[in-house]
Amino acid sequence: MSALARDLCARLGIALPIVQAPMAGGPTTPELVAAVSHAGGLGSLGAAMLSPAQIREAGARIRALTGAPFAINLFVLPPASPTADALEPALARLEPFHRELGLPAPAIPNSWGESFDDQFAAVLEVGPAVFSTHFAAPPAAAIEACKRRGILVVTTATTPAEAAALEAAGVDIVHAQGAEAGGHRGTFLAAADAAPIGTMALVPMIADAVRVPVIASGGIMDGRGIAAALALGASAAQLGTAFLACPEAGTHPLHKQALAQAEGTMLTRGVTGRVARGLRNRLLETLERDAAAAPDYRVQNRLAGPLRAAAAQQGRAELMAMWAGQGHRLARAEPAAELVARFAREAGLSRG
Ligand SMILES: Cc1cc2nc3c(=O)[nH]c(=O)nc-3n(C[C@H](O)[C@H](O)[C@H](O)COP(=O)(O)O)c2cc1C
Repeated sequence: MSALARDLCARLGIALPIVQAPMAGGPTTPELVAAVSHAGGLGSLGAAMLSPAQIREAGARIRALTGAPFAINLFVLPPASPTADALEPALARLEPFHRELGLPAPAIPNSWGESFDDQFAAVLEVGPAVFSTHFAAPPAAAIEACKRRGILVVTTATTPAEAAALEAAGVDIVHAQGAEAGGHRGTFLAAADAAPIGTMALVPMIADAVRVPVIASGGIMDGRGIAAALALGASAAQLGTAFLACPEAGTHPLHKQALAQAEGTMLTRGVTGRVARGLRNRLLETLERDAAAAPDYRVQNRLAGPLRAAAAQQGRAELMAMWAGQGHRLARAEPAAELVARFAREAGLSRG
């Protein structure tokens, strides 16, 4: 293991520099998180869509399954206050899908999602080893609260400038997310995210731009990718798509199946209002065409919620948003502990 990887593992109290990515919306069950952490990696709970009570419950379940360190992840987003005028075209573009799925016409919901402050209070109650955020650094008071409790803070960067901004904000570790990555891009400074930087180019640039440790992600699917990430200057590798097909993962069965079959992936902000990478299908292709009409994340993600839930419930894979990275065909349906052991073997990692 490299000296950088050894140092970060010691700081996190884990044996292997392998992080299972937080994946909000179902895949990262307490069982998956606990299995990865118990196997010597760092499991991460994607808690962005969970209520405070659900976060406390999931934290207790992870604790019941393992005494090993784990991470909890939230989104840091600006508040939403859309006008009725702005909502009309946003509702209209979802209408044909509602009709196709037999749903009532799209409507304005009562709320635009969970409050970060309430979710964060629940995270502090659980007290994970790591608190990670996507879309921005946590507010300064939240970083302070973590530091007082010895919780390490990790935030996503997609450019060297974002990484430097996170280091200046007091973040302990930068998650460098390359263009290959599945799910939402954590971009927060680059205006339109027009030309996302691939993992191979991004990781060494970020490693050179900051003094804090770097966790690399994006297209890393096995031990070969992990070894490459460490060679590029990362202290650990974070894998999301590689864990989506695990039996412990809460991924929809059709999403698991599609990983091996889909004709590649695409980036679009048309589904949720933030650029995300998913398996190419009719929903993503159609909503990409008029993506400019989609409001920002808090609003659009909420508006598209009913149609995505109905598509999943009705087993309509062509209308589901199946987030995944470019390496999706390399995903293996193995138990998480076996995956972690295989990755370590393939990457030639000895346990720290
Ligand atoms: C289904 C899915 C959901 C994701 N949800 C989150 C999330 O809630 N929070 C987060 O920080 N990153 C999220 N990500 C991004 C991961 O942190 C990571 O950057 C990505 O999985 C790395 O690329 P890979 O999928 O090719 O391994 C998600 C990725 C996927 C595939």
